[in-house]
Amino acid sequence: MAADVTELEEIVDGLSGSQKQISPKYFYDERGSQLFDDITQLPEYYLTNTELGIMRDNIAEISELVGKQASLIEFGSGSSLKTRILLEHLSELAAYVPVDISEQHLHASADEIRERFPHIDVQPVVADFTQEFALPMPMVMPIRNVVYFSGSTIGNFEHDMAMKLLRVMHHEAGKGGALLIGVDLQKDPTIIENAYNDSAGVTAEFNLNILQHLNRDYGANFDVSEFEHSANYDPNEGRVVIELVSQSDQRFEIAGAAFDIADGEAILTEYSHKYTLDGFAEMANNAGFVVEKVWTDAEKLFSVQFLTRQ
Ligand code: AVJ
Repeated sequence: MAADVTELEEIVDGLSGSQKQISPKYFYDERGSQLFDDITQLPEYYLTNTELGIMRDNIAEISELVGKQASLIEFGSGSSLKTRILLEHLSELAAYVPVDISEQHLHASADEIRERFPHIDVQPVVADFTQEFALPMPMVMPIRNVVYFSGSTIGNFEHDMAMKLLRVMHHEAGKGGALLIGVDLQKDPTIIENAYNDSAGVTAEFNLNILQHLNRDYGANFDVSEFEHSANYDPNEGRVVIELVSQSDQRFEIAGAAFDIADGEAILTEYSHKYTLDGFAEMANNAGFVVEKVWTDAEKLFSVQFLTRQ
């Protein structure tokens, strides 16, 4: 892949501030996507399996709330098991519209969905879903749009951006529309910290791979062995802070710019926000949604929520 100039500017910009940072979107090159899949299988990473269990346990009620002849608009290209459960159970879907910025990834997973569900009208949209985008015209007129945003990916965004994203989803849902969303919940900090510090070291590898990705595809020269994975839950902010901590005073370069990093200094790579039900409902309300239904697991680790437009 050729390094994109605006991406390089964004990366250099993030490394130039007093808090060095790299956007979590750079986790997901081919190796990073594989490592994330591995994370979802870890015993400590409760999010994926818990969300899947909630979907399975409540799929009849979810289908009922979505209703007939809806257009399901997934933010992110849905190759996950959760999407397949939905597509198996939603009745008379007018269309399935996966939205992703990576055209290659989007079309590969759209083809997979078409093969598995030949009767569903699959209408992929290449777009950056943090901004409003135009919806395709399906063959069957949808009764309503239901936006689907799984995995607690909303947790990657800080409050203002999460609000902006909820407003975009509100816009795309349209009049009479709804949002089905997976939201990770605040809980015993030990459970949360273990999910991001797994004993097999996969999350550490995933985090360090962001530097390898910048070395491979953006011409950076990080000495990956001189950084260490760190993930700590901040209960006041309700978020996991994921960083790469420099193990020495060192210098790295990218796009002709040189950066000094001190021993013990960290590069922020990701936040993973955890919500209370009240806190999330307040954000949803401020974006124009009403929380119609919340499903959780028995231990209240994770929630799947159905929001309707006011
Ligand atoms: C994909 C953003 C939901 O925050 O749990 C997993 C990413 N990072 N382990 C999360 C992630 C480290 C994940 N999200």
